Amino acid sequence: MSTPAHPFLDGRPKRLLIGGQWVEALSGRTFESVNPATGEVIAQLAEGGAEDIDRAVAAARAAFEGPWSKFKPFDRQALMLAIADAVEKHFDDLCVLETLDMGAPIARTSTYKRWIVQALRFYGGQAVALAGETPHNSFPGDMFSYTLRAPIGVVGGIIPWNGPLISQLFSICPTLATGCTLVLKPAEDASLGVLRFAEIMQEAGLPDGVINVVTGLGSTAGARLAAHQNVDKIAFTGSTATGRRIVEASAGNMKRVAVELGGKSPDIIFADADLERAVPGAGMGCFNNSGQICYAGTRLFVQRPIYDEFVERLAAFSKTIRVGNTLDPQTQLGPLVSGKQLATVSSYFDLARAEGAQVMSGGERLVGDLAAGFFVPPTVLAGMRNDMRTAQEEIFGPVASVIAFDSEEEVVRLANDTQYGLGGAVWTRDVGTAHRVARDVRSGMMWVNCYGTTETTVQSEGYRMSGYGVKGGRRHVEEYLYTKTVWMNLA
Ligand code: NAI
Ligand code: MG
Repeated sequence: MSTPAHPFLDGRPKRLLIGGQWVEALSGRTFESVNPATGEVIAQLAEGGAEDIDRAVAAARAAFEGPWSKFKPFDRQALMLAIADAVEKHFDDLCVLETLDMGAPIARTSTYKRWIVQALRFYGGQAVALAGETPHNSFPGDMFSYTLRAPIGVVGGIIPWNGPLISQLFSICPTLATGCTLVLKPAEDASLGVLRFAEIMQEAGLPDGVINVVTGLGSTAGARLAAHQNVDKIAFTGSTATGRRIVEASAGNMKRVAVELGGKSPDIIFADADLERAVPGAGMGCFNNSGQICYAGTRLFVQRPIYDEFVERLAAFSKTIRVGNTLDPQTQLGPLVSGKQLATVSSYFDLARAEGAQVMSGGERLVGDLAAGFFVPPTVLAGMRNDMRTAQEEIFGPVASVIAFDSEEEVVRLANDTQYGLGGAVWTRDVGTAHRVARDVRSGMMWVNCYGTTETTVQSEGYRMSGYGVKGGRRHVEEYLYTKTVWMNLA
């Protein structure tokens, strides 16, 4: 396996997009992008630092106060629809680039097209549906009161590497819909798709400075953005540890924050479930994107009468999953994103064994043909207890901890025994059980007899240490607006 030619990988170092211009980092420094399927360096990227964030924020502020502020709702919608059309045109190259950069197989990244185009069109609709209110009042005399919804200003978007083409849209779309401006800081392990996407937006007519992209490290560029006095809001997706720092940094100027963080979501399989669907459904609910999904269902609670059968079938299913060449359309799972992530996941294989897990499948790095990349197989751990560290900590690899339970009351208690609250699912043929468990598990999203469906029109929101702030749905744009009340004396 080696990295094929790609028009974006032309050997020239990638630059920062600031105020509509592609520029080098002021320090002149660069860092490498690696194809995690092969370990090859595929590009050099500008390493934006604090001073580059400063000029990107200044450009975003100038755009916010400049011509962009004169764009009417239908103008912003027209821009978003034009970007959607441009994405459709260029998508085949874009998804290959995302695959080469972060390792999700082409079978996965090619499905992003529908999602991205729908997001731009949905939020484009939101752009023309913003409205204030005219609350009645009883003040003596003749007073009129109304509210205006105004864009919040300059937004900082800090996104992770597990699906940047998707996660960037959760700040780009509400920014464009509301008339805000954005400084986007992609993750150091996967920035190429974001840079190419920015070129496509420019081709579609994106005004200068409305969206700026600064690649660079979290500890320098990211930290500066999070603490910046001239940034009005941060939209962050990533680890809980970094999310806490983002919230702390926001206090300096009381910026608004949305943080979508980690998870260890429960997936509950009752004895009456249709195992033909539950085995692959729960399996892929955990293994998809090699487990690098915030809401992955990684704690599998299986009712005792079917526990042994389920574990056996899940292990057998996991061995049928095709792991390997990310550009082969038949491949279902690619590598982990980086050597660092491989080391983390491998350390959990050791921990699981030390904690007494029975490794039913996987549990070791894949070598042989795949030794140059960061590949691990889907891994099924049986004999697990919910209080083991392996079952409590976010691994971000394709690792399912399968835990036995007896009663509904017990499984709800175990499912809720976590610091997180992002996703979860229940598999049963009993409609009462389905509704009760969907209601009683404390998390932002629950699935019934399926796992992981999401759409931009339907909101999601974390709970507890999975963070806060709405993504998707009608309420998302609200978080990019502030409400101004006006009192007017009509007498
Ligand atoms: P991270 O949360 O540190 O990185 C996410 C983004 O935050 C990146 O763009 C990074 O550059 C930036 N960042 C890092 N430190 C920052 C700081 N001090 N101030 C501002 N921005 C900063 O995640 P990392 O280190 O890449 O992954 C570690 C673990 O985090 C994973 O193993 C996984 O458990 C979890 N994670 C969860 C994600 C989710 O969607 N819930 C996504 C990515 C990672
Ligand atoms: Mg990479």
